[in-house]
Amino acid sequence: MQMRHGERKGITAVFVFFATLVVISAVKGQQIPVVPGGAHFPNPSGASQTYSTTGKGIDLTGPFFQSLGVNGRTCGTCHQPSDGMSISAGNVQRRFELTQGQDPIFRTIDGANCNHTIDVSSLAGRSAAYSLLRTRGLIRIRIAVPANADYRITNVNNQYGCNESDVISIYRRPLPTTNLRFLSTVMFDGRESSPATGTAKILYSNYPDSLVNDLKHQSVDATINHAEGDGSRPTAAERQAIVDFEMALFTAQSVGNGTGRLDTQGATGGPKALVTQPFFISINSSVHPLVSAFEQPGGIVEGDGQFTPGRTALHGSSGSGCARAGHFQFQTDKYHRGRRYKRRRGGWRSRYRRRFLASRNLRPLPRYAERGESLFPHAFEHRYW
Ligand code: HEC
Repeated sequence: MQMRHGERKGITAVFVFFATLVVISAVKGQQIPVVPGGAHFPNPSGASQTYSTTGKGIDLTGPFFQSLGVNGRTCGTCHQPSDGMSISAGNVQRRFELTQGQDPIFRTIDGANCNHTIDVSSLAGRSAAYSLLRTRGLIRIRIAVPANADYRITNVNNQYGCNESDVISIYRRPLPTTNLRFLSTVMFDGRESSPATGTAKILYSNYPDSLVNDLKHQSVDATINHAEGDGSRPTAAERQAIVDFEMALFTAQSVGNGTGRLDTQGATGGPKALVTQPFFISINSSVHPLVSAFEQPGGIVEGDGQFTPGRTALHGSSGSGCARAGHFQFQTDKYHRGRRYKRRRGGWRSRYRRRFLASRNLRPLPRYAERGESLFPHAFEHRYW
């Protein structure tokens, strides 16, 4: 139903109020204690809502919003209620401007395009050092190539200086810490539900305990990697509180431009409908048993519908062409180059590639090439952005 002009204006004022409040409080380090349950956050298509099954709105006082490491960051630094528990490039840019690039999200360890060959002593230097974060909302994720990897890094072309080939720099938008009940793997590449981190694979038989335990483990690794913690925090009680907080959150679009609320007149949009949505690992989860066994043995174990590390540890789960539902990742933007493709140079594949690159504006992103070892009998090269 089309909203009347007055109604629309009123709602917009409330949306803007919350968006600004949360971003600014994050910037200034002041905390409002709670984002009220009914809060809508504006986005280009209307607005979204995050609902907590605690029924008390989004509590901003728990360990998720506390500094557990040494560089001033909290989980909320990169998982913001106003951005669907992730970040948007537009709001990161606002934080940069409001704080002259001093907000805790701007830390060289993984907020900068690279942690060396940068100068963050001046505003211009910070603007350049954090350009991928400011303009695309990307964090640098360092993935060590495992000793027993079934691929070899053959070339790294990182224009920001992170050209190491033993630890690969991959640039990822924070995954939303909401709707986690529907996860069949934790992290883009599933590494927090795999032997790579000593965590358990999420299966129909061990869900949801495996998911909860994996998320607890993830909260410790996140504190070490993003907040430069020493591993002592979050404590067991804090881990539990973080995961309880995360698992209670559900986010969805709540208002459409021109359509109004999406949960009225019989429509089942908005976050509350997700709470009771039936969900079963390996039945309607994003990783499905019918996925082809193409990437054996590193990618998929046939029949169980779950990714294993090795190959996927580097690329993200999209390495098998099976991107996770609802998750946006730049690693999906990849271009395969192998013998089959080279023969057609100048043909439609090259034209497609040029159009593809232009449409995604991938030029600012580093590239690397990798060659499969055991996976492909005819060594096969991929290039990734
Ligand atoms: C500097 C920014 C940053 C901070 C701080 C941060 N995260 Fe994240 N988070 C990310 C990024 C980037 C990813 C995706 C990384 C990947 O998959 O390799 C992510 C992924 C996640 C995921 C995975 C969700 C999924 O769908 O698999 C969870 C859960 C999570 N973070 C929780 C936390 C918690 C808990 C904390 C605090 C202890 C935290 N994060 C702190 C940036 C951050």
